[in-house]
Amino acid sequence: MAAVVALVVAFCVVAGLPSEAWAGRVGDGKPAAPPSPGLKRVLDYIEGQLDRYDKDLSELVAFPSVSALPDHTPHVLAAADWVAARLRRAGLQGVEILPTNGSHPVVYGEWLSVGTAAPTVLLYGHYDVQPVDPLDEWESPPFEVSKRGGYYYGRGVDDDKGGLLEAVQAVEAWLQAEGSLPVNVKVMLEGEEEVMSPHLPAFLRAHAARLAADVVLSADGGQPGPEVGGISLGLRGVVGMQVHVETAGTDMHSGMKGGSVPNANHVLAALVAGLRNANGGVAVEGFYDDVAPLTDEDRADVAEYHFDADQEKESLGLYGFTGEKEYGVLEQRWFRPTLDVVGMWGGFTGEGIKTVIPRAAHAKISCRLVPAQTPEGVLAKVSEHIARHCPAHARCRVIPMGGSCHPWTNPRRTAANDAAAAVHRTVSAKEPIYLRDGASIPALTFFQQELGLAVTKFGWGLSERIHAPNERLRADMYGKGRRAWALILEELARRQAEAAGVREEL
Ligand SMILES: *[C@@H]1O[C@H](CO)[C@@H](O)[C@H](O)[C@H]1NC(C)=O
Ligand SMILES: [Zn+2]
Repeated sequence: MAAVVALVVAFCVVAGLPSEAWAGRVGDGKPAAPPSPGLKRVLDYIEGQLDRYDKDLSELVAFPSVSALPDHTPHVLAAADWVAARLRRAGLQGVEILPTNGSHPVVYGEWLSVGTAAPTVLLYGHYDVQPVDPLDEWESPPFEVSKRGGYYYGRGVDDDKGGLLEAVQAVEAWLQAEGSLPVNVKVMLEGEEEVMSPHLPAFLRAHAARLAADVVLSADGGQPGPEVGGISLGLRGVVGMQVHVETAGTDMHSGMKGGSVPNANHVLAALVAGLRNANGGVAVEGFYDDVAPLTDEDRADVAEYHFDADQEKESLGLYGFTGEKEYGVLEQRWFRPTLDVVGMWGGFTGEGIKTVIPRAAHAKISCRLVPAQTPEGVLAKVSEHIARHCPAHARCRVIPMGGSCHPWTNPRRTAANDAAAAVHRTVSAKEPIYLRDGASIPALTFFQQELGLAVTKFGWGLSERIHAPNERLRADMYGKGRRAWALILEELARRQAEAAGVREEL
């Protein structure tokens, strides 16, 4: 208990340091300690297992564990079984497949034998994946790992099957080479991340005692580049909704009635057009009310990233960028909220032509949120906007759709962020940078909201083509990530021991 209190104090002391070091320096500026003899043996062990690690990736990717498609539930469950068996083989204890209130379980395992002398680290990742369509754009079958040109290709090689395997392999290397871990470890791998973890909040509440930890390290998420590490300070939140427009009780003949009756497609198109203003921003009344202005520190983080807009234009085949004129590309992704129509339909969309006036039209909208916006607040504002602009000859409704989550923010200085920075410095021989991500990982927000836990993002892929055809993972990052995981477990233990030592001297 005392050690737990000391740890909490140590975490708070570190977290409370002024962030004087924002201009390029991360954490306390110290590299990871030279590896202990034990860590050296762990790293040697890893070098002897490389074929095994390739086999891990091939075996896990072979399960089409697509969480969005109900037909694939048996594959998701089979993947969970494989992951549980893999945790057991790694040497973890108490491995269990824990049900959630959804159809995809959480796989859990732990190793707690260090006791209160060291922190307890909760490792988070997910074994479900995104759908693979359009299938004909894949250069090799999505569920067969293909290794070519220094990359692994396949659905989930990065997001997040490769990511979670790196963490598990590092834990295994400690347990097999040394018979112990430097910290207590709890591993929690879920099967609903790609559908926004709808059952995770209740799951975390139901298992709060079992999941108690000092910090969460997330194996989901990636690095900004092969040579440069990043510490993530935030993710945008998200809320989804569907707009329904109705103009009549029946479709009508476009010749007999055309011109004299409203067309639901046109009403929807006008509403959608009205969602953007001439400046490239979102025209919904009050949309930006809660959004904080950028600070000097925020702008410094953006500058440090050295975002190459031309290179991105080239690699994405973009003709140009859009958005709010007074913000740069990265500033928008990190600090500004969005509203995007992700799908629209109405009337006849089959082959050929049908002379019809549609009675109904629909659009799906996804908004990304920044502090201090809330999913409920944004949903209400968009609903009010649509209601206000709905013409008298139509009926318009907005209903929530899909999961939602609040933005996630992470203080610049936490003990785990500082430890991660030290590891980055060691494995890349370079200063890491602070960054944000425009995307959302609801689980990270849920750890914060439900368990009060700080999260450090510690994924090692480069997020290349994730959610898209030909997802790939650089083979050297798969190795680098595994070594980094081995290092951070020792680094967290060492830093806590040091902090506790400092406290005793005071
Ligand atoms: C399932 O939902 C019920 C009712 O909300 C809740 O009490 C229970 O803890 C949930 N179980 C899990 C494992 O999430
Ligand atoms: Zn993903």
